[in-house]
Order: sequence, then C-alpha cells, then structure tokens
Amino acid sequence: MINILIVGSGGREHAMAWKIKQSPKLKQLFIAPGNVGTALLGTNIPVGVSDFDGIKKAVTDNQIDLVLVGPEVPLCEGLHDYFKADPILKHILFVGPYKLGAQLEGSKDFAKKFMMRHQIPTAKYLAVTSENLSEGVEFLKTMTAPYVLKADGLAAGKGVLILNDLQETESSLKEMLGGQFGAASRKVVIEEFLSGIECSVFVLTDGSDYRILPVAKDYKRIGEGDTGLNTGGMGAVSPVPFADEVFMKKVEDRIIRPTVQGLINDLIPYNGFIFLGLISCKGEPMVIEYNVRMGDPETEAVMLRIQSDFVDLLIGAAEGTLADKTLEIDPRTAVAVMLVSGGYPGSYEKGKVISGLENVETSLVFHAGTIQCGEDVCTDGGRVLTISSYGNNMSEALSCSYKNAQFINFNGLYYRKDLGFDL
Ligand code: AMP
Ligand code: GLY
Repeated sequence: MINILIVGSGGREHAMAWKIKQSPKLKQLFIAPGNVGTALLGTNIPVGVSDFDGIKKAVTDNQIDLVLVGPEVPLCEGLHDYFKADPILKHILFVGPYKLGAQLEGSKDFAKKFMMRHQIPTAKYLAVTSENLSEGVEFLKTMTAPYVLKADGLAAGKGVLILNDLQETESSLKEMLGGQFGAASRKVVIEEFLSGIECSVFVLTDGSDYRILPVAKDYKRIGEGDTGLNTGGMGAVSPVPFADEVFMKKVEDRIIRPTVQGLINDLIPYNGFIFLGLISCKGEPMVIEYNVRMGDPETEAVMLRIQSDFVDLLIGAAEGTLADKTLEIDPRTAVAVMLVSGGYPGSYEKGKVISGLENVETSLVFHAGTIQCGEDVCTDGGRVLTISSYGNNMSEALSCSYKNAQFINFNGLYYRKDLGFDL
C-alpha cells in the first residue's frame, strides 16, 4: 500500500483522484493544491504546482511513495529533474517526464523536429524567429489559406492563430515575434493547415513499454456547432466512433510506436503520459500536437472507462514495469459535460453560490473551479464543474449528464448542449 500525491487542482486531478481512490494499493491520498472536490477524497495541501520546495515538504511530511503530476507547467519547469537531483526525493516514484521530454509540449519546434526525425506524420512547417523572418514570409507565400501560426512555447492554450488573409498573417507573425505571447512567441512555428476531425489519444509509458488509454474527443469552442472562441474544453466523449480499430492500428504503427522508440533513440527518459492531439485527414492520422499530460476535460471521461487498477498502472509507468501491467477498458461510453461561468472564456465573475450538487445521483461531479465559502460551494474559475456519466451509447451517456446538469444552478451557468453532434 502506498501514499500518493497528485499535483494539480482541476477537474482532471479530481477525476484521477476518484479513480486512484478505488485502488486496493492506495494507503493515503494527498492533492496539492487540490480543490473542493478532491478534499472529499483525500487531503488537500495548500502548495502551488510550481512551488517545488513546498512539494518536497509535502512529500517528506506525508511519506509519499508516488507523485503524479496533472498539469504541464511543473513538468516543463523541471519538477521531475528537481526530484532526481535531491538525495531524499530521488527514490520516490514519479509519473511525469523530465524537463527534456516535457519539451514535446513546451516547445512546438522541439516537437516538430522530433516528429521529422522519426518520420511521424504531421503538418509541414517552418520555425521562425526575428532572424529568419524573411524566410518565414517566403514560406507563407508558398502556402494556401488558412495559415496556421503557433507560439513555440507554452501559452495557456492561446498560442495558436488560424488566419485566412496572407497580409494579416504576416502582420500577426511579426506581432507574435515581437512578444504578443511574451517569451513563448519569440519563436513561431508556421504550419500547413490540416483539415479533418480531431481526437485525443492518451498513452501511458515507462519509456520502453506503453499502454493506450481510451480515446476521447474534446469540444474546445464555447458555442454550439463548434463556433466562437476557444476554451480549455467544454466537454468530452469516449470512445470516438471514427477512431475505430483500423484507424487506431494506424495510430499505433505510425505514431505511438515511433514516438516511444524515438524517445529511446534520442536518449530521452520518459515516465508518464503522452497525449497525442490527432487529426484524421480522410482516415489518415496526423499529429497536431503532443502534450505531456492527460487532457482536461478528456480525463473526466477517460477515467470512467479504465477498469484496471490505475495505481498499479502508475506504479508500472514510474518504475519501468509497465510490461507486466494490464489495462482493461470498460466497453461503455463515458462523457464529460463542462459547466462554465457566464462570460467565459472572456471575463467572468467568481464567487457565485452553487446549488443542487447533492441532487446529482446518476452522474459523477468533478470539480474544476470551485471554492468553499463557509457552508457553500462557490464558483472560482471559468470552468467550474464537470458532469460525467456512463451510457450504453453516446446519446444515453449525454442524456444522463444533461439531466443531472439541470439540478445544478449558479448565477451565469452555461454549458454546451450539443456535444457529440459531429459524431
Ligand atoms: P494546438 O494548441 O497545437 O492543439 O492547436 C489548437 C487547435 O488549433 C487544435 O486543436 C486544432 O483545432 C487547431 N490546429 C492546430 N494546428 C493545426 C493545423 N496544422 N491544421 C489545422 N488546425 C490546426
Ligand atoms: N482538452 C485539451 C487539453 O487538455 O489540452
């Protein structure tokens, strides 16, 4: 039996906590900093995800055996490297890559070079800085609209621009290089536009073996019919009908195996999740992006479909024994519907009292942006709660989440009622 610390505070971490809590291998669960939902499953520790010394203290004070990192930021900042360099922490099991591997998410240019080196299918591209701006402009002229510009570094999901006009794209490129997204856009990746339908594939690896988790699709736009601004994610469904056996075999042969082998060949040790943002171009999978963590809200659907002991899988990934672990997947459909604050992803108010949580019986509620205000639970972010459900098919699972969503109320509550419309 082991003590586990989850680093993070969103719906993803609550869903992971829910799954971990079911394991017979768990002794005690801690979450740093966690949220109102995780406090129901374990002990929240008020330490930020980038406060490495605070995390060290949480680990030593609570005799933590395994650390699972939810978000990308501490990984890109080198939390795993910090553990490895510390004589006390270096033997603790750790799920999440080192800074080097985390560059797959932390630098689009690094990820592109990696894919080129290992012949992994992805869009054509050119990396541009102020030094080769004219080359960038020439490259744009060889392409046709729409044009895709991506900030090289982490930009909280906002660093991708898709533009139709060449002139406008040139000026946006200059603005980005001039620091529109701070240091993250001092380098920009110009990419060929790919058209098709997207899905999220999650792989857990110990750096040599891997297990493929249930595939999901998330809905990023705020408006129904995939319109309006991009958000952190308005909901997710799993499985994804078009990601059938034929498609997934291509994904494994052309993308997953070459990625894991590429990490080995490049001497990049990697224990953790690889999240492949894929697009199916007429049935052919291409990589849109790598992330080095699980997706949010995909996790709030994917965790429901993992039947095996998740802690056993995490131990396998951390210690390099994943080859001995099995991953059984629930054949049912799982969905996650995100309830958000009015105004999100623009400005919104916080502190609205949430009512009706106790009336949800046939769905799971995962907290994202909530805070305890005395007796009440209040909103504390743009994405507030996820309502996750099982069903024998997608429409059954969605009906269940939508029925339970009606019990919940707070001022300004909004959610998309059309998830799965494109499937
Ligand atoms: P990313 O942050 O790289 O996931 O990009 C955000 C979103 O932009 C993706 O989910 C896609 O919808 C879109 N996108 C990114 N790159 C491309 C591309 N090369 N072609 C078409 N759409 C893209
Ligand atoms: N749902 C997409 C992400 O987590 O980046």
